[in-house]
Amino acid sequence: MFDFITEEHKMIQQAARDFARAAIAPIAAEYDESGDFPLRTIREMGQLGFMGIEVPEEYGGAGMDTVAYVLAMVEICKADASHGTIMSVNNSLFAHGLMKFGTEEQKQKYLVPVATGQKIGAYSLTEPMSGSDAGTMKSRAVLNEAGTHYVINGRKSWVTSAPYADTIVLFTMTQPEKTHKGVSAFIIETDKPGFTRGKKEPKLGIRASATSEIIFDNYECPVENRLGAEGEGFKIAMTVLDAGRIGIASQALGIAEAALEASIAYAKEREAFGQKIGEFQMIQQKLADMKCRVDASRLLIYQAALAKMAATRTGGRYSMEASMAKLFASETAMWVTTQAIQIHGGMGYSKEMPLERYFRDAKITEIYEGTSEIQRMVIARSLTGLR
Ligand code: CAA
Repeated sequence: MFDFITEEHKMIQQAARDFARAAIAPIAAEYDESGDFPLRTIREMGQLGFMGIEVPEEYGGAGMDTVAYVLAMVEICKADASHGTIMSVNNSLFAHGLMKFGTEEQKQKYLVPVATGQKIGAYSLTEPMSGSDAGTMKSRAVLNEAGTHYVINGRKSWVTSAPYADTIVLFTMTQPEKTHKGVSAFIIETDKPGFTRGKKEPKLGIRASATSEIIFDNYECPVENRLGAEGEGFKIAMTVLDAGRIGIASQALGIAEAALEASIAYAKEREAFGQKIGEFQMIQQKLADMKCRVDASRLLIYQAALAKMAATRTGGRYSMEASMAKLFASETAMWVTTQAIQIHGGMGYSKEMPLERYFRDAKITEIYEGTSEIQRMVIARSLTGLR
């Protein structure tokens, strides 16, 4: 039916499915409970090529396209959304930015180890007082007199993978008076003086993916670690988020698919009032509506993936398609996991089954990489051209 999905795509999808079932699904509940970071499986995913799917082979990646990326993301997230979060940050928020805006030297030094999964990458835009309004940040980077280093000060928050990240793409102000045109991007090495991590956030869901604040105290960043030109940071951040939002949409789809599959199996097995619960019209209606929303999400994700691939060839943007996919898939994941718990009754509410984890994990997809409200704003602005 989808003839853009080639044999090669099916192979990476199958490889991700096999790995997710064999190595991730059995440990997902335990890591969710402990909140430990699953470094061993993440390294194995790197060896299988899942940490830099769209990165060309010469930079350590799998050299595939966005369709391959979304197919693999869905399979990993069906088993565990936390692994998917770490995978999406490495692939889209870190590798995509380095690939598109990095110099050859930056790619060799920083992209290769992250794309191969030997190192963990992160992306830092949000601050305690700047979230959706990303252009109003308070952190600063000031070029020293000799013009060799930027001195960075300030505090960034909600940085996914920060507690384990070796390298972080940081967005901070170099010319605050210019607001969003005064933002620049930097590649930060986390083992250098002046960089510290705040406490790990205690989270509702995706508990095995570590998140923390990061603090810069006179951190010296060499000029050659600036990503893109001075003042180009906001556009880099937004361009990278467009790619990231397709990854989060795929994560949401994986969670929703897992909840739907569990619900179908339960409806065929569980009996009440002397019949299978799947024979009751109220359960049938839920399953039918869940399936429609899951498949509609998949279509929007394919549309966004194809739009991104076309934009890579022509240089255009695919912001609206990415936001539509993320908005619809994340709200679907929240709705489908809610219905799935209802179908399972008490068992859905119990930690004996993964449904409550799916429900908790689904919520973040409506929040990070742009809330549902921000996605609606991006879509409406694209439609009208108004601000
Ligand atoms: N691609 C390229 N350029 C873009 C762009 C895009 N997607 N979106 C905006 N721009 C450009 C605009 O063209 C404009 O350029 P000019 O000045 O040259 O005209 C410039 O950026 C400013 O654009 P806006 O005036 O539209 O900016 P705004 O301040 O109104 O903000 C916004 C727009 C869509 C609300 C944006 O701020 C946004 O997406 N906010 C949400 C931020 C977000 O997603 N945060 C989550 C971060 S990461 C995370 O969740 C944690 C993690 O680790 C996973």
